[in-house]
Amino acid sequence: MSGASDFVVVANRLPVDRVVGENGEPSWRRSPGGLVSAIAPLMRRRHGTWIGWAGSPDERLEPFEEDGMSLVPVVQTAEDVELYYEGFSNATLWPLYHDVIAPPVYDRSMWDAYVRVNQRFADVAAEVAGKDGVVWVQDYQLQLVPAMLRRLRPDLRIGFFLHIPFPPLELFWQLPWRRQILEGLLGADLVGFQLPGAAQNFVRLCRRLLDARTFKQDVFWDGRTVRARAFPIPVDAEELRRLSADEGVRRRAAEIREDFGDARLLLGVDRLDYTKGITQRLEAFGELFRDGELRPGEATFIQIATPSRERVEQYQLLRDQIEQQVGHINGEHGELGTPVIQYLHTSYDRAELAALFLAADVMVVTPLRDGMNLVAKEYVACREDLGGALVLSEFAGAAAELKRAYQVNPYDIDGLKQALLDALRDHPSEQGRRMRAMRRRVLEHDVDRWAHDFLTALEEPPPPTAMAREAV
Ligand code: ADP
Ligand code: F6P
Repeated sequence: MSGASDFVVVANRLPVDRVVGENGEPSWRRSPGGLVSAIAPLMRRRHGTWIGWAGSPDERLEPFEEDGMSLVPVVQTAEDVELYYEGFSNATLWPLYHDVIAPPVYDRSMWDAYVRVNQRFADVAAEVAGKDGVVWVQDYQLQLVPAMLRRLRPDLRIGFFLHIPFPPLELFWQLPWRRQILEGLLGADLVGFQLPGAAQNFVRLCRRLLDARTFKQDVFWDGRTVRARAFPIPVDAEELRRLSADEGVRRRAAEIREDFGDARLLLGVDRLDYTKGITQRLEAFGELFRDGELRPGEATFIQIATPSRERVEQYQLLRDQIEQQVGHINGEHGELGTPVIQYLHTSYDRAELAALFLAADVMVVTPLRDGMNLVAKEYVACREDLGGALVLSEFAGAAAELKRAYQVNPYDIDGLKQALLDALRDHPSEQGRRMRAMRRRVLEHDVDRWAHDFLTALEEPPPPTAMAREAV
């Protein structure tokens, strides 16, 4: 069994979601999240095949072409969505891999659905991939696919990339299906992580939990060498440079600024997710008015939150909490016609986001834990004018690269308040120096190079098996 594609990406979602408008007409909309932002540009350029779900339950669609990509939809029934996507992926793995910020749910029927849906993705990939082709599996929703696919198609080179953090042994140990997840990942030839620490966690777990032999960042398993490596994900800097130089985008940025008069603008742009630290940043901002450090009209916070995983309980609770918090802060500190926070529960197109990035004096990115956080890098990539300041959580993967951001511990509300004030008040020459240094980092890496590095490493021949046998 083999198909015709030499290069296949397998991800839970396709890069576009199928949405049906009020007139009943279906159309395609860009899917949310950092994975799509990172992988879609390179798929357009490489003409690979992308296997994924079109975003609605029970939809059986034929393969189609969109935006220069060949897309192969995989069906998820309403039950799969509930148990595999909302359940095991987003109520079990997501919180477990993000420092158990919310309590993970351990439920056997969710696990069964995870196995079933991963097998479905592996079956489709086995059909689509050409002989000796390369298959690149993405993210935590599909950690069993590498081993399942290897069983079906031992001829393939299989890569896996985890876009979110990989937890330390002490947390991963909680998972009742911890062995199966590790064995699933070990079906890959190369397992990529955002940070070196995550790769180390994985290798350590393989040693301790599976008794696998390891050498540095290699794991010897089932007669093969599986490499674990860090590939910090960059942004499509070229696209962002083009967007931020666009006349229309610049005009729109000026309009946004005008709408807010003389107020300094602080901006948050996130999926509405409890890992993003939205309540912490709003609390800190609100307290600056209470303390008399800021007055209404002097600074406005624009918080844009893309709807996300809306049927998962923790996400519903968070939405209520944020809406209440915004109402409370505006009620306490806003004035007629001058709310201190503008909250928008919606998603925007790339041009509008770029205009917001250009308009913002301070970009506030405060996740409690984040694999990378592309928003932080996108902001920096857009600020060719060297204006603006970035407040960035130490717990975002991006903090390892963006050392000249105003780095904060988002759990420390006083520290967060001080960072917001510094970012608002520091001299523009200091801001410029910081931005220049951060831009150097962000612009020297781009997504094409990142994919090239991953795929080159994937195609490297594994070290000789003798070494594998001898390694301890
Ligand atoms: P995550 O993958 O957890 O959502 P990232 O920050 O890594 O977090 O990536 C989010 C991506 O989604 C970025 O490319 C960002 O520009 C985009 N995005 C986030 N919020 C919005 C929004 N409200 N409208 C449009 N795009 C958004
Ligand atoms: O890595 C972040 C990520 O979870 C992606 O895997 C995912 O596609 C994206 O965020 C958005 O989440 P969701 O697909 O659950 O809407």
